[in-house]
Amino acid sequence: MKPTLIAPSVISADFGYLRADLARAEQGGADMLHVDIMDGHFVPNISFGPAIAKTIRSHTKLPLDVHLMLTKPRKFITSFAEAGATNITIHIECEDTILTAINEIHDFDCKVGLSVKPKTPLSAVAEHLGRIDRLLIMTVEPGFGGQKFMPDMMAKVREAVAIRQQNNYKFDIEVDGGLDKYSIWDAVRAGAEVIVAGTAVFGQADVGKAIQELRDNAKEALAYLNPPQAGGAPS
Ligand code: DX5
Ligand code: ZN
Repeated sequence: MKPTLIAPSVISADFGYLRADLARAEQGGADMLHVDIMDGHFVPNISFGPAIAKTIRSHTKLPLDVHLMLTKPRKFITSFAEAGATNITIHIECEDTILTAINEIHDFDCKVGLSVKPKTPLSAVAEHLGRIDRLLIMTVEPGFGGQKFMPDMMAKVREAVAIRQQNNYKFDIEVDGGLDKYSIWDAVRAGAEVIVAGTAVFGQADVGKAIQELRDNAKEALAYLNPPQAGGAPS
């Protein structure tokens, strides 16, 4: 079983001290940085654009997991790929042709993520699941950090695990919204492998300690999922 990946969400960082916050996350053991892009149309909020993504890229070696909450994401794939995105995630609910967007992202040698909002069933993404690298299951309505985790979404995570197994698909499963040291338990036990956390990391006084706490709880949840076999070597 692979270790759970922790992806602090930059939107919760202190932008006056962005460089320092990014360094704290990197030194604190983050596996990647989650970069939320909002257009004020697909979601009722605006964040920032490719120029800031490029700045983030220049201040960290961590992979950048770019989450495009845009009505027309295709228009910005080139800019975010050139800004240094490692992964570009688009929403199935956007207005662009999904297959074309997936191919364009892959053409830049970026990994492709596809996201579903809480009210969108997995059947909406079924035809694309064999082509993507990451499935992002939203655990809040996208638009704002600091919202309450929706435990009902764990059924969707379990469904994604089953579909992946049945079809031998390769995507990893990411959850985003309201993840903290408590909800991470539910998420990991349901099968989530990448945990996005904004408030639970950058909203804490000690960023490194917050990441470690998430990691420890994820590890415990994984151990609960896969208890050591009787007579086997202790893990
Ligand atoms: C929500 C964003 C999330 C959010 C996470 O629209 O996609 O990445 O900022 O923040 P927390 O962890 O505070 O819910
Ligand atoms: Zn996000």
